[in-house]
Amino acid sequence: MANATKPYSVAIDLGSGALKSFNKKVEVKLRDLRGFFYDRGAVDAAVYGLKNPTVYEYFENSQPSARGQMNFGVTTLNPGKVGSEYYMTRGHYHAKKRAAEIYVGLGGKGIVVMQTKEGRFFHSPISRGRIVYIPPLWAHRTVNTGEEKLSFFYAYASDAGHDYGTIRRKGFAKLVVEKGGRPKIIDNPKYSP
Ligand code: F6R
Ligand code: ZN
Repeated sequence: MANATKPYSVAIDLGSGALKSFNKKVEVKLRDLRGFFYDRGAVDAAVYGLKNPTVYEYFENSQPSARGQMNFGVTTLNPGKVGSEYYMTRGHYHAKKRAAEIYVGLGGKGIVVMQTKEGRFFHSPISRGRIVYIPPLWAHRTVNTGEEKLSFFYAYASDAGHDYGTIRRKGFAKLVVEKGGRPKIIDNPKYSP
């Protein structure tokens, strides 16, 4: 039952972003992202050359999936690139239509790209002290455009669900790439709306 969870609190180290306790840890390695980066050949070469590095991890306080409950945690995204595309999360739509999310930047710098199925696109910087509001129906992906680890706190409805398949099949409308030493947001030539 949704209201069976007891209240509790958890310490977070705001300097490093380390959450003192969590009940779910997910580690995503480069090979897991093969279907998400633009240049699959570059992914294969990097997986081989760099021995399949960890791209990001998230540490979560996960509640039962029930209406009214929330999950929260911290994502840490390493710096790096595949070809000219910066390291990023897979990105997803929430499976449930009425599920917003909040990100709070803790360290590093990057960009949160967001899009809707109707073709709207938005991007926001994320860094220590910046809050990003992701409304319902907006897919979201975080990109590390800096040279340090990017970390952010997140909170969302525990019954939101994650639709990764749509992004895996269709991609994101825009890519975040390095051009002339700076991040640039370009149209994704492979995007199918
Ligand atoms: C949860 C959420 C974040 C991401 C995390 C990893 O709804 O948006 O906690 O789950 O940053 O990204 P994905 O889930 O896209 O691999
Ligand atoms: Zn989400």
